Amino acid sequence: MNEYDSELVRSILKKENYEFVTDELAADIVMLNTCAIREHAHRKVYGRVHSIRHARGKGSPVMIGLLGCMATNLRQDLLEDRSLKIDFIAGPDSYKRLPQLIHEAADEGQKSYDVTLSEFETYSDIFPSAEDRVNPLTTSRVNAWVAVMRGCNNFCTFCVVPYTRGRERSRAPENVIDEVRRLAGEGFKQITLLGQNVNSYRYEDHDFAYLMDEVSKVEGIERIRFTSPHPKDFPDRFLDLMAVNPKICKHIHLPLQAGNDRVLDLMNRTYTKQEFLNLVDKVRAKVPNVALSTDIIVGFPTETDAEFEDTLDVVSKAQFDSAFTFKYSERQGTIASKKYPDDVPDSVKSQRLTSLNKAQKEITYQKNRAHIGQIQTVLLEPYPDSKNPDIMPGRTDGGKLVLLPAGRYQGGDMVKARITDATPHALKGQALP
Ligand code: 5AD
Ligand code: SF4
Repeated sequence: MNEYDSELVRSILKKENYEFVTDELAADIVMLNTCAIREHAHRKVYGRVHSIRHARGKGSPVMIGLLGCMATNLRQDLLEDRSLKIDFIAGPDSYKRLPQLIHEAADEGQKSYDVTLSEFETYSDIFPSAEDRVNPLTTSRVNAWVAVMRGCNNFCTFCVVPYTRGRERSRAPENVIDEVRRLAGEGFKQITLLGQNVNSYRYEDHDFAYLMDEVSKVEGIERIRFTSPHPKDFPDRFLDLMAVNPKICKHIHLPLQAGNDRVLDLMNRTYTKQEFLNLVDKVRAKVPNVALSTDIIVGFPTETDAEFEDTLDVVSKAQFDSAFTFKYSERQGTIASKKYPDDVPDSVKSQRLTSLNKAQKEITYQKNRAHIGQIQTVLLEPYPDSKNPDIMPGRTDGGKLVLLPAGRYQGGDMVKARITDATPHALKGQALP
Protein backbone atom coordinates (compact mmCIF):
# COMPACT_ATOMS: atom_id res chain seq x y z
CA MET A 1 0.00 0.00 0.00
CA ASN A 2 2.86 2.36 0.73
CA GLU A 3 4.36 1.66 -2.67
CA TYR A 4 1.04 2.51 -4.29
CA ASP A 5 0.76 5.62 -2.12
CA SER A 6 4.21 6.72 -3.29
CA GLU A 7 2.92 6.37 -6.85
CA LEU A 8 -0.03 8.62 -5.93
CA VAL A 9 2.39 11.14 -4.43
CA ARG A 10 4.50 11.13 -7.60
CA SER A 11 1.39 11.72 -9.64
CA ILE A 12 0.15 14.56 -7.41
CA LEU A 13 3.49 16.35 -7.35
CA LYS A 14 4.18 15.86 -11.05
CA LYS A 15 1.07 17.92 -11.80
CA GLU A 16 2.78 20.74 -9.88
CA ASN A 17 5.87 20.36 -12.06
CA TYR A 18 8.05 18.58 -9.56
CA GLU A 19 10.56 16.29 -11.17
CA PHE A 20 11.38 12.90 -9.63
CA VAL A 21 14.88 11.70 -8.99
CA THR A 22 15.80 8.51 -7.16
CA ASP A 23 19.13 9.78 -5.84
CA GLU A 24 18.53 11.26 -2.42
CA LEU A 25 21.85 13.10 -2.61
CA ALA A 26 20.66 15.00 -5.68
CA ALA A 27 17.11 15.80 -4.53
CA ASP A 28 15.93 19.18 -3.23
CA ILE A 29 13.20 17.44 -1.26
CA VAL A 30 13.44 13.94 0.21
CA MET A 31 10.27 12.18 1.34
CA LEU A 32 10.26 9.07 3.50
CA ASN A 33 7.08 7.02 3.25
CA THR A 34 6.88 5.30 6.62
CA CYS A 35 5.15 2.22 7.98
CA ALA A 36 4.21 1.89 11.64
CA ILE A 37 2.89 -1.66 11.64
CA ARG A 38 5.86 -3.46 13.14
CA GLU A 39 9.46 -2.95 14.21
CA HIS A 40 10.65 0.22 15.71
CA ALA A 41 9.95 2.41 12.74
CA HIS A 42 10.47 5.40 14.98
CA ARG A 43 14.15 4.67 15.56
CA LYS A 44 14.70 3.71 11.93
CA VAL A 45 13.27 6.99 10.69
CA TYR A 46 15.43 8.98 13.09
CA GLY A 47 18.45 7.12 11.70
CA ARG A 48 17.47 7.76 8.08
CA VAL A 49 16.79 11.47 8.63
CA HIS A 50 20.10 11.93 10.44
CA SER A 51 22.04 10.07 7.77
CA ILE A 52 20.49 12.12 4.96
CA ARG A 53 21.25 15.36 6.84
CA HIS A 54 24.78 14.14 7.50
CA ALA A 55 25.39 13.12 3.87
CA ARG A 56 24.07 16.43 2.58
CA GLY A 57 26.25 18.42 4.98
CA LYS A 58 25.63 21.32 7.32
CA GLY A 59 23.65 24.19 5.84
CA SER A 60 22.28 22.10 2.94
CA PRO A 61 18.88 23.44 1.89
CA VAL A 62 17.47 19.92 1.39
CA MET A 63 13.94 19.58 2.76
CA ILE A 64 12.83 16.33 4.38
CA GLY A 65 9.22 15.22 4.64
CA LEU A 66 7.64 12.26 6.41
CA LEU A 67 4.70 10.50 4.82
CA GLY A 68 2.61 7.49 5.79
CA CYS A 69 1.40 5.77 8.90
CA MET A 70 4.17 6.85 11.19
CA ALA A 71 3.32 10.43 10.36
CA THR A 72 -0.18 9.94 11.74
CA ASN A 73 0.85 7.86 14.68
CA LEU A 74 3.76 9.89 15.96
CA ARG A 75 2.86 13.40 14.90
CA GLN A 76 3.24 14.84 18.39
CA ASP A 77 6.67 13.32 18.99
CA LEU A 78 7.86 14.31 15.56
CA LEU A 79 6.80 17.92 15.90
CA GLU A 80 8.11 18.37 19.41
CA ASP A 81 11.44 16.66 18.97
CA ARG A 82 13.88 19.35 17.91
CA SER A 83 16.65 16.85 17.24
CA LEU A 84 14.62 15.39 14.37
CA LYS A 85 15.16 17.81 11.51
CA ILE A 86 12.13 17.37 9.30
CA ASP A 87 10.23 20.06 7.43
CA PHE A 88 6.80 18.62 6.74
CA ILE A 89 4.56 15.69 7.65
CA ALA A 90 1.66 14.25 5.64
CA GLY A 91 -0.52 11.33 6.77
CA PRO A 92 -1.99 8.79 4.33
CA ASP A 93 -5.12 10.86 3.65
CA SER A 94 -3.32 14.19 3.14
CA TYR A 95 -1.24 13.67 0.02
CA LYS A 96 -3.28 16.09 -2.06
CA ARG A 97 -2.18 18.81 0.34
CA LEU A 98 1.51 18.05 -0.18
CA PRO A 99 2.18 20.93 -2.60
CA GLN A 100 0.74 23.32 -0.03
CA LEU A 101 2.62 21.72 2.88
CA ILE A 102 5.89 21.96 0.97
CA HIS A 103 5.23 25.63 0.19
CA GLU A 104 4.39 26.40 3.81
CA ALA A 105 7.55 24.72 5.05
CA ALA A 106 9.71 26.42 2.41
CA ASP A 107 8.21 29.90 2.67
CA GLU A 108 7.57 30.12 6.40
CA GLY A 109 10.50 27.98 7.49
CA GLN A 110 8.28 26.07 9.94
CA LYS A 111 7.36 22.44 10.23
CA SER A 112 4.05 22.04 8.40
CA TYR A 113 1.78 19.07 8.77
CA ASP A 114 -1.55 17.51 7.95
CA VAL A 115 -2.37 14.12 9.42
CA THR A 116 -6.16 14.42 9.36
CA LEU A 117 -7.83 11.09 8.65
CA SER A 118 -10.68 11.26 6.19
CA GLU A 119 -13.86 9.20 6.04
CA PHE A 120 -13.97 9.75 2.28
CA GLU A 121 -10.55 10.14 0.69
CA THR A 122 -9.87 7.32 -1.78
CA TYR A 123 -7.77 9.29 -4.28
CA SER A 124 -10.24 8.18 -6.92
CA ASP A 125 -9.38 11.19 -9.08
CA ILE A 126 -5.64 10.40 -9.20
CA PHE A 127 -4.45 7.87 -11.75
CA PRO A 128 -0.71 7.36 -11.49
CA SER A 129 0.69 6.94 -15.01
CA ALA A 130 3.03 4.15 -16.04
CA GLU A 131 5.91 6.56 -15.51
CA ASP A 132 4.76 7.33 -11.95
CA ARG A 133 4.56 3.61 -11.30
CA VAL A 134 7.94 2.61 -12.55
CA ASN A 135 10.24 3.24 -9.65
CA PRO A 136 13.36 1.44 -10.80
CA LEU A 137 14.09 0.50 -7.21
CA THR A 138 10.87 -1.32 -6.51
CA THR A 139 8.48 -1.82 -9.36
CA SER A 140 8.27 -3.27 -12.83
CA ARG A 141 5.94 -2.65 -15.72
CA VAL A 142 4.39 -6.10 -15.37
CA ASN A 143 2.38 -5.67 -12.18
CA ALA A 144 0.45 -2.57 -11.14
CA TRP A 145 -1.05 -1.98 -7.71
CA VAL A 146 -4.55 -0.54 -7.55
CA ALA A 147 -5.99 0.41 -4.16
CA VAL A 148 -9.72 -0.32 -4.17
CA MET A 149 -10.43 0.41 -0.54
CA ARG A 150 -8.57 2.10 2.27
CA GLY A 151 -8.67 1.87 6.04
CA CYS A 152 -9.86 -0.83 8.40
CA ASN A 153 -12.77 -1.23 10.86
CA ASN A 154 -11.66 -4.48 12.46
CA PHE A 155 -9.58 -3.23 15.37
CA CYS A 156 -7.49 -6.35 15.90
CA THR A 157 -6.05 -5.44 19.28
CA PHE A 158 -2.38 -5.64 18.20
CA CYS A 159 -2.78 -3.51 15.11
CA VAL A 160 -2.17 0.17 14.56
CA VAL A 161 -3.74 0.38 11.09
CA PRO A 162 -7.25 1.49 12.15
CA TYR A 163 -5.62 4.44 13.94
CA THR A 164 -3.12 5.39 11.26
CA ARG A 165 -5.29 4.82 8.19
CA GLY A 166 -8.79 5.40 9.55
CA ARG A 167 -12.14 3.89 8.61
CA GLU A 168 -12.91 1.64 5.67
CA ARG A 169 -14.01 3.31 2.45
CA SER A 170 -14.21 1.88 -1.06
CA ARG A 171 -13.85 3.32 -4.55
CA ALA A 172 -16.68 3.11 -7.07
CA PRO A 173 -16.27 0.02 -9.31
CA GLU A 174 -16.37 2.07 -12.52
CA ASN A 175 -13.57 4.26 -11.16
CA VAL A 176 -11.41 1.18 -10.45
CA ILE A 177 -12.17 -0.25 -13.91
CA ASP A 178 -11.22 3.07 -15.47
CA GLU A 179 -7.79 2.86 -13.79
CA VAL A 180 -7.35 -0.80 -14.81
CA ARG A 181 -8.22 0.01 -18.47
CA ARG A 182 -5.57 2.72 -18.52
CA LEU A 183 -3.04 0.28 -17.07
CA ALA A 184 -3.90 -2.38 -19.67
CA GLY A 185 -3.42 0.30 -22.33
CA GLU A 186 0.02 1.04 -20.90
CA GLY A 187 1.02 -2.60 -21.19
CA PHE A 188 0.61 -3.87 -17.63
CA LYS A 189 -0.27 -7.57 -17.52
CA GLN A 190 -1.12 -8.11 -13.89
CA ILE A 191 -3.23 -6.06 -11.48
CA THR A 192 -3.01 -6.50 -7.73
CA LEU A 193 -6.05 -5.06 -6.00
CA LEU A 194 -5.09 -3.59 -2.66
CA GLY A 195 -6.79 -2.77 0.60
CA GLN A 196 -6.07 -3.15 4.30
CA ASN A 197 -9.09 -5.41 4.24
CA VAL A 198 -9.53 -5.85 0.56
CA ASN A 199 -12.35 -8.40 0.62
CA SER A 200 -14.50 -6.12 2.80
CA TYR A 201 -14.76 -3.96 -0.32
CA ARG A 202 -18.29 -2.64 -0.69
CA TYR A 203 -19.63 0.14 -2.84
CA GLU A 204 -23.41 0.56 -2.69
CA ASP A 205 -24.70 -2.93 -3.65
CA HIS A 206 -21.40 -4.09 -5.11
CA ASP A 207 -19.13 -6.49 -3.24
CA PHE A 208 -15.59 -7.70 -3.83
CA ALA A 209 -16.68 -10.64 -6.02
CA TYR A 210 -18.47 -8.22 -8.35
CA LEU A 211 -15.40 -5.98 -8.52
CA MET A 212 -13.01 -8.85 -9.27
CA ASP A 213 -15.29 -10.15 -11.99
CA GLU A 214 -15.53 -6.72 -13.62
CA VAL A 215 -11.76 -6.19 -13.44
CA SER A 216 -11.21 -9.58 -15.07
CA LYS A 217 -13.21 -8.45 -18.11
CA VAL A 218 -10.67 -5.74 -18.95
CA GLU A 219 -8.91 -6.77 -22.14
CA GLY A 220 -5.13 -7.08 -21.94
CA ILE A 221 -5.01 -7.91 -18.24
CA GLU A 222 -3.88 -11.51 -17.87
CA ARG A 223 -3.77 -11.94 -14.13
CA ILE A 224 -5.49 -10.49 -11.10
CA ARG A 225 -4.30 -10.81 -7.53
CA PHE A 226 -5.50 -9.24 -4.30
CA THR A 227 -4.07 -8.52 -0.89
CA SER A 228 -4.71 -8.50 2.02
CA PRO A 229 -7.99 -10.13 2.95
CA HIS A 230 -9.52 -10.99 6.33
CA PRO A 231 -10.77 -14.56 6.89
CA LYS A 232 -14.21 -13.23 7.86
CA ASP A 233 -15.13 -12.14 4.32
CA PHE A 234 -14.96 -15.20 2.06
CA PRO A 235 -18.51 -15.80 0.88
CA ASP A 236 -19.13 -18.87 -1.32
CA ARG A 237 -19.96 -16.51 -4.17
CA PHE A 238 -16.41 -15.20 -4.15
CA LEU A 239 -14.75 -18.62 -3.92
CA ASP A 240 -16.97 -19.97 -6.72
CA LEU A 241 -15.92 -17.05 -8.91
CA MET A 242 -12.26 -17.68 -8.14
CA ALA A 243 -12.65 -21.32 -9.14
CA VAL A 244 -14.08 -20.57 -12.57
CA ASN A 245 -12.44 -17.31 -13.58
CA PRO A 246 -9.10 -18.13 -15.24
CA LYS A 247 -7.70 -14.61 -14.79
CA ILE A 248 -8.05 -14.63 -11.00
CA CYS A 249 -4.88 -16.20 -9.65
CA LYS A 250 -5.42 -19.22 -7.44
CA HIS A 251 -3.66 -17.78 -4.46
CA ILE A 252 -5.21 -16.58 -1.23
CA HIS A 253 -3.36 -14.88 1.56
CA LEU A 254 -5.24 -15.97 4.68
CA PRO A 255 -3.81 -14.30 7.80
CA LEU A 256 -4.04 -16.68 10.77
CA GLN A 257 -2.20 -14.54 13.37
CA ALA A 258 -2.50 -17.24 16.08
CA GLY A 259 -3.87 -20.76 16.49
CA ASN A 260 -5.21 -20.68 20.04
CA ASP A 261 -8.82 -19.69 20.76
CA ARG A 262 -8.03 -17.64 23.87
CA VAL A 263 -5.26 -15.72 22.07
CA LEU A 264 -7.43 -15.21 18.98
CA ASP A 265 -10.13 -13.81 21.24
CA LEU A 266 -7.68 -11.42 22.93
CA MET A 267 -6.55 -10.38 19.44
CA ASN A 268 -10.20 -9.76 18.44
CA ARG A 269 -9.81 -11.85 15.31
CA THR A 270 -13.47 -13.05 15.51
CA TYR A 271 -12.77 -16.68 14.58
CA THR A 272 -11.68 -19.80 16.44
CA LYS A 273 -8.97 -22.28 15.49
CA GLN A 274 -11.60 -24.72 14.20
CA GLU A 275 -13.43 -22.04 12.21
CA PHE A 276 -10.16 -21.08 10.55
CA LEU A 277 -9.40 -24.70 9.69
CA ASN A 278 -12.93 -25.14 8.34
CA LEU A 279 -12.38 -22.12 6.11
CA VAL A 280 -9.13 -23.63 4.81
CA ASP A 281 -11.03 -26.86 3.99
CA LYS A 282 -13.80 -24.95 2.26
CA VAL A 283 -11.36 -22.88 0.21
CA ARG A 284 -9.46 -26.00 -0.88
CA ALA A 285 -12.69 -27.82 -1.77
CA LYS A 286 -14.01 -24.94 -3.84
CA VAL A 287 -10.77 -23.78 -5.44
CA PRO A 288 -8.72 -26.87 -6.28
CA ASN A 289 -4.94 -26.40 -6.22
CA VAL A 290 -5.23 -23.03 -4.53
CA ALA A 291 -2.01 -21.74 -2.95
CA LEU A 292 -2.41 -20.43 0.58
CA SER A 293 -0.12 -18.08 2.45
CA THR A 294 -0.52 -16.54 5.87
CA ASP A 295 0.68 -14.08 8.52
CA ILE A 296 1.44 -15.27 12.05
CA ILE A 297 2.38 -13.38 15.20
CA VAL A 298 4.20 -15.17 18.03
CA GLY A 299 4.38 -13.98 21.61
CA PHE A 300 1.18 -11.98 21.86
CA PRO A 301 0.82 -10.90 25.53
CA THR A 302 0.12 -13.84 27.89
CA GLU A 303 0.54 -16.48 25.13
CA THR A 304 1.81 -19.66 26.83
CA ASP A 305 3.98 -22.39 25.33
CA ALA A 306 0.94 -24.68 25.20
CA GLU A 307 -1.07 -22.02 23.39
CA PHE A 308 1.72 -21.49 20.91
CA GLU A 309 1.53 -25.25 20.19
CA ASP A 310 -1.95 -24.56 18.77
CA THR A 311 -0.34 -22.24 16.22
CA LEU A 312 2.06 -25.02 15.23
CA ASP A 313 -0.90 -27.40 15.02
CA VAL A 314 -2.77 -25.11 12.60
CA VAL A 315 0.39 -24.71 10.52
CA SER A 316 0.73 -28.47 10.32
CA LYS A 317 -2.95 -28.99 9.44
CA ALA A 318 -3.45 -26.04 7.07
CA GLN A 319 -0.27 -26.75 5.08
CA PHE A 320 0.29 -23.17 3.92
CA ASP A 321 2.51 -22.65 0.91
CA SER A 322 4.31 -19.88 2.76
CA ALA A 323 4.06 -17.74 5.87
CA PHE A 324 5.17 -14.32 7.02
CA THR A 325 6.00 -14.66 10.69
CA PHE A 326 6.51 -11.91 13.24
CA LYS A 327 7.31 -11.41 16.88
CA TYR A 328 4.60 -9.40 18.60
CA SER A 329 5.64 -5.80 18.87
CA GLU A 330 3.64 -3.38 20.98
CA ARG A 331 2.27 -0.48 18.97
CA GLN A 332 1.41 2.83 20.56
CA GLY A 333 -2.33 3.55 20.76
CA THR A 334 -3.55 -0.01 20.11
CA ILE A 335 -6.02 -1.80 22.40
CA ALA A 336 -3.38 -4.39 23.30
CA SER A 337 -0.91 -1.69 24.32
CA LYS A 338 -3.51 -0.36 26.78
CA LYS A 339 -4.89 -3.65 28.11
CA TYR A 340 -2.18 -6.28 27.90
CA PRO A 341 1.42 -5.72 29.05
CA ASP A 342 3.96 -7.07 26.53
CA ASP A 343 4.95 -9.84 28.95
CA VAL A 344 6.38 -12.60 26.75
CA PRO A 345 10.19 -12.28 26.99
CA ASP A 346 11.97 -11.54 23.74
CA SER A 347 14.01 -14.74 24.08
CA VAL A 348 10.78 -16.78 24.21
CA LYS A 349 9.39 -14.92 21.18
CA SER A 350 12.64 -15.73 19.35
CA GLN A 351 12.44 -19.43 20.23
CA ARG A 352 8.82 -19.62 19.06
CA LEU A 353 9.66 -17.81 15.85
CA THR A 354 12.53 -20.21 15.18
CA SER A 355 10.43 -23.33 15.68
CA LEU A 356 7.56 -21.89 13.66
CA ASN A 357 9.87 -20.97 10.79
CA LYS A 358 11.48 -24.41 10.89
CA ALA A 359 8.09 -26.13 10.64
CA GLN A 360 6.89 -23.86 7.84
CA LYS A 361 10.12 -24.11 5.87
CA GLU A 362 9.74 -27.87 5.69
CA ILE A 363 6.13 -27.53 4.47
CA THR A 364 7.09 -24.86 1.93
CA TYR A 365 9.86 -27.10 0.62
CA GLN A 366 7.49 -30.05 0.25
CA LYS A 367 4.89 -27.87 -1.47
CA ASN A 368 7.56 -26.60 -3.85
CA ARG A 369 8.84 -30.12 -4.56
CA ALA A 370 5.30 -31.24 -5.39
CA HIS A 371 5.53 -28.94 -8.43
CA ILE A 372 8.38 -30.92 -10.00
CA GLY A 373 7.24 -32.38 -13.31
CA GLN A 374 4.24 -30.04 -13.61
CA ILE A 375 3.64 -27.66 -16.50
CA GLN A 376 3.04 -24.15 -15.16
CA THR A 377 2.24 -20.87 -16.86
CA VAL A 378 4.85 -18.35 -15.74
CA LEU A 379 4.45 -14.57 -15.99
CA LEU A 380 7.96 -13.25 -16.50
CA GLU A 381 9.44 -10.30 -14.65
CA PRO A 382 10.84 -7.61 -16.92
CA TYR A 383 14.56 -7.66 -16.28
CA PRO A 384 16.94 -10.53 -15.81
CA ASP A 385 18.36 -10.52 -12.32
CA SER A 386 21.32 -8.13 -12.59
CA LYS A 387 23.50 -10.46 -10.47
CA ASN A 388 22.54 -13.36 -12.64
CA PRO A 389 21.78 -12.31 -16.24
CA ASP A 390 21.35 -15.92 -17.38
CA ILE A 391 18.28 -16.36 -15.22
CA MET A 392 14.82 -15.05 -16.02
CA PRO A 393 12.54 -14.90 -12.98
CA GLY A 394 8.76 -15.20 -13.13
CA ARG A 395 5.76 -16.27 -11.09
CA THR A 396 3.31 -19.13 -11.33
CA ASP A 397 -0.41 -18.55 -11.03
CA GLY A 398 -0.07 -19.58 -7.37
CA GLY A 399 2.57 -16.87 -6.87
CA LYS A 400 5.64 -19.08 -6.67
CA LEU A 401 8.94 -17.72 -7.93
CA VAL A 402 10.25 -19.70 -10.92
CA LEU A 403 13.74 -19.31 -12.33
CA LEU A 404 14.08 -20.05 -16.04
CA PRO A 405 17.22 -19.93 -18.17
CA ALA A 406 17.16 -16.58 -20.03
CA GLY A 407 15.91 -17.08 -23.57
CA ARG A 408 14.09 -15.40 -26.40
CA TYR A 409 11.37 -14.01 -24.19
CA GLN A 410 10.96 -10.85 -22.20
CA GLY A 411 9.27 -9.41 -19.15
CA GLY A 412 5.48 -9.53 -19.35
CA ASP A 413 5.46 -12.71 -21.47
CA MET A 414 3.41 -15.66 -20.27
CA VAL A 415 5.55 -18.73 -20.81
CA LYS A 416 4.64 -22.38 -20.35
CA ALA A 417 7.36 -24.12 -18.45
CA ARG A 418 8.08 -27.56 -17.05
CA ILE A 419 9.19 -27.43 -13.42
CA THR A 420 12.41 -29.39 -13.10
CA ASP A 421 13.60 -28.71 -9.56
CA ALA A 422 12.70 -26.94 -6.34
CA THR A 423 14.39 -25.36 -3.34
CA PRO A 424 12.64 -24.05 -0.20
CA HIS A 425 12.65 -20.61 -1.83
CA ALA A 426 11.95 -21.10 -5.54
CA LEU A 427 11.15 -23.45 -8.40
CA LYS A 428 13.42 -24.08 -11.35
CA GLY A 429 12.06 -24.72 -14.80
CA GLN A 430 12.57 -25.01 -18.55
CA ALA A 431 10.37 -23.11 -21.00
CA LEU A 432 8.49 -25.42 -23.35
CA PRO A 433 9.36 -24.96 -27.03
N1 5AD B 1 3.24 -6.98 16.06
C1 5AD B 1 3.66 -7.95 15.21
N2 5AD B 1 3.11 -8.17 14.00
C2 5AD B 1 2.10 -7.36 13.63
N3 5AD B 1 1.35 -7.32 12.51
C3 5AD B 1 0.46 -6.32 12.61
N4 5AD B 1 0.61 -5.69 13.79
C4 5AD B 1 1.62 -6.33 14.45
C5 5AD B 1 2.23 -6.16 15.73
N5 5AD B 1 1.82 -5.22 16.58
C6 5AD B 1 1.49 -8.29 11.40
C7 5AD B 1 0.21 -9.10 11.23
C8 5AD B 1 -0.37 -8.54 9.97
C9 5AD B 1 0.88 -8.16 9.20
C10 5AD B 1 0.67 -7.20 8.09
O1 5AD B 1 1.71 -7.59 10.19
O2 5AD B 1 0.56 -10.46 11.08
O3 5AD B 1 -1.17 -9.46 9.26
FE1 SF4 C 1 -4.88 -4.57 11.26
FE2 SF4 C 1 -6.73 -6.45 11.80
FE3 SF4 C 1 -7.33 -4.37 10.18
FE4 SF4 C 1 -5.62 -6.29 9.31
S1 SF4 C 1 -7.80 -6.59 9.83
S2 SF4 C 1 -5.37 -4.04 9.13
S3 SF4 C 1 -4.54 -6.83 11.23
S4 SF4 C 1 -6.86 -4.25 12.36
